[in-house]
Amino acid sequence: MRIVLIGTGNVATRLGLALHARNAEIIQIFGRSAANASQLAASLQCRYTVSKSEIKTDADLYILAVSDDAIAEVAAMLPKGGDRMILHTAGSVPMGILDPFSSNYGVLYPLQTLSRQKEIDFSNVPVCIEANTPSNLEKLRILAATISEQVVVIDSDQRRNLHLAAVFVCNFVNHLYAIGEASLKEQDLDFNLLRPLILETAEKAMLFSPREVQTGPAVRGNKTVIEKHLQMLEKHPEWKKIYELMSRDILKQSGRLGRGADWETRGL
Ligand SMILES: NC(=O)c1ccc[n+]([C@@H]2O[C@H](COP(=O)([O-])OP(=O)(O)OC[C@H]3O[C@@H](n4cnc5c(N)ncnc54)[C@H](OP(=O)(O)O)[C@@H]3O)[C@@H](O)[C@H]2O)c1
Repeated sequence: MRIVLIGTGNVATRLGLALHARNAEIIQIFGRSAANASQLAASLQCRYTVSKSEIKTDADLYILAVSDDAIAEVAAMLPKGGDRMILHTAGSVPMGILDPFSSNYGVLYPLQTLSRQKEIDFSNVPVCIEANTPSNLEKLRILAATISEQVVVIDSDQRRNLHLAAVFVCNFVNHLYAIGEASLKEQDLDFNLLRPLILETAEKAMLFSPREVQTGPAVRGNKTVIEKHLQMLEKHPEWKKIYELMSRDILKQSGRLGRGADWETRGL
């Protein structure tokens, strides 16, 4: 299967390298930046172009690893006709967005946080696939199975729900790490101090339901500590709002909200 990879960012890089390692035939990279496209093409030992008119017309598969908002625009510039297949890699974009551009299309969504600068063992990455016909789904399943041991068929609706959950457990959690890092920096403390805690929290989530192993002042109903923390956050109003919302939700989930009217009156 001759593949053209569109995009030179995080997913194009990691997916491209995973496919290349499995001897997939990537024949060309298309990117807007010559520097990025040539660098990725060198790693994948293929050609590259930055010109739409030079995108190869004889590929079997075009993988659009581009920003969500660019999917339709980029699909529109691909060669028309033939039975070539187009895929996108987004979590929250319905498969149907590709319908106007080809009679063969689908989605290959890697459910992992991928970064250009971080190597990853793709065989452990769940790959969620969807296609517009059973035969395209089969082709996609075969391709996905070359790079991942966990290939799952899910529809666009399920995928956007998975993506939403992924934003909570990955993107938001990482943002909380960034807040922790910034807050320690203000006190000249090293973020390394928190790293074992981050690791242990993630390991517990592997073994138990996260709700069962929740710790901290909110789940213990420790109002004194919560009040102190909120006072400490006066100079960071956004962090304070996040702290309040999180604490309120933990209190609610643990059944503590409503037991003492003071939680309600103080805004938690
Ligand atoms: N990163 C993840 O963890 C992850 C995981 C699963 C799925 N995804 C999905 O995979 C897709 C790509 O994400 P990413 O993280 O790889 O993004 P990224 O690193 O920001 O890369 C986006 C790529 O799209 C290109 N692009 C943007 N607008 C374009 C346009 N109008 N025409 C042509 N190319 C354009 C960018 O080119 P320039 O470099 O020139 O701007 C870049 O090569 C997204 O749909 C995302 O939702 C991401």
